[in-house]
Amino acid sequence: MKGIVLSGGSGTRLYPMTRAANKQLLPVYNKPMVYYPLTTLMLAGCREILLVVNPADVESYRRLFGDGKQWGLDIRYAVQPRPGGIAEVFIVGREFVGKDRVGLILGDNLFYGDSLPAVAERGATGSGAVVYAYWVSDPAAYGVVEFDAAGRPVSIVEKPKEPKSNWAVTGLYFYDADVCDVAAHIPRSARGELEISDVNAHYLKQGRLTVEKLGRGYAWLDTGTPSSLLRAAQFVETVEDRQGLQIGSPEEVAWRKGYIDDGGMEKLIQPIRESEYGKYLQRLLARA
Ligand code: TTP
Repeated sequence: MKGIVLSGGSGTRLYPMTRAANKQLLPVYNKPMVYYPLTTLMLAGCREILLVVNPADVESYRRLFGDGKQWGLDIRYAVQPRPGGIAEVFIVGREFVGKDRVGLILGDNLFYGDSLPAVAERGATGSGAVVYAYWVSDPAAYGVVEFDAAGRPVSIVEKPKEPKSNWAVTGLYFYDADVCDVAAHIPRSARGELEISDVNAHYLKQGRLTVEKLGRGYAWLDTGTPSSLLRAAQFVETVEDRQGLQIGSPEEVAWRKGYIDDGGMEKLIQPIRESEYGKYLQRLLARA
């Protein structure tokens, strides 16, 4: 399964933190932000990953991820010349997608919940477009889905002034390979962007859109403003400290899914033995 992590953007709301550093490389508590969405794709079964990044950040991402083999992944990179909207990912990533179904996750989105792997896998193995809706207090900031009495989606509108519901479309999506053609044919919005909501609305019109609701037992956090970034960090710290288990560790996910064996994990631990993160991975191995 193929998956794309969209990790470009301008991060203007986090300025000046994002003046020299890319948003998705900033920490959320104890890991780079991009680790959380990457592991969500891994849990969905994606092993071929494309990172879409800004031209200035390719080298930083390469330093962080390399070719992904250390985690049993195949990681490639594509450059988005300037932020032109989320759906532009399917122009930049057309060659990567080829003839295959593909997952897309936003590099600043954090998902957490007990059956998340199963829910995401359903999207990965489904057909047409599969997106997820989450009840939020401020729907006007998102793409908003309206459902009919039978629970079927009837409209998707990006940042509506008067939202028809509190159901926001999250930053995790799965599409058939024709998404690249769909994205190539939608017009740019008033703000000059290729909107993912327009792509989703296209699938809705064709009767090929599934919207799965994530109930209140899930956490969906984004990290685009200083306070939401802090809240996400506090959330991760709270859960990790209580359980002694980490959220969003690619090494752990790769090892639990059998992408790497104990020997592979040992190799990853060696250079970071003395860090808290390295000690955590050692404890996992020792208990296995
Ligand atoms: P946004 O948070 O909408 O935009 P941004 O990251 O540029 O931040 P700001 O609004 O503060 O200027 O983007 C959502 C995610 O999608 C985020 O992870 C960055 C990514 N993105 C791109 O990679 N390319 C793009 O063209 C856009 C619009 C977003």
